[in-house]
Amino acid sequence: MTPDDRIGVLFVCLGNICRSPLAEGIFLHKIHERGVASRFRVDSAGTGGWHTGEAADPRARDVARRHDIVLPSRARKVSRRDLTRFDHLIAMDQANVDDLLALGARDSRVTLLLEYDRQTNRREVPDPYYGGRDGFETMFELIDRACEGLIETLLTVST
Ligand code: 4NP
Repeated sequence: MTPDDRIGVLFVCLGNICRSPLAEGIFLHKIHERGVASRFRVDSAGTGGWHTGEAADPRARDVARRHDIVLPSRARKVSRRDLTRFDHLIAMDQANVDDLLALGARDSRVTLLLEYDRQTNRREVPDPYYGGRDGFETMFELIDRACEGLIETLLTVST
């Protein structure tokens, strides 16, 4: 497999400091654990650029650390190139979906992360930025379960 054959996955939220970097970190952790990391190209980005260059929010890094996950990436804004460079644009909420489509993303590439968790009726990972620490633990649980389903789906459709 050449690097270009890898499945491109971009996690997208608003600020790229809470939800999408956590999704990126959890997804990376899981694919390494399963020994399938070389099959994926993974990144995250925000539809807003206010936090460009910043590390993930300390509360997101804390909840990740408690689950032995590191969040290494720095925030960046979604670029138009991302819309074609990544096969799957995985949004945290409907506003992210709408923003990606408005930027010109192909509908078939954009999905909500929680669509991959068959056990939840929720559609969106709530934005925890203005809330308390509880919101970060809830965010972890939602993202963690959905990432399992996402990996299963991507490995199934691409084998
Ligand atoms: P995220 O959370 O989209 O999960 O990274 C947010 C972070 C920052 C802001 C909004 C949401 N903000 O408005 O600065």
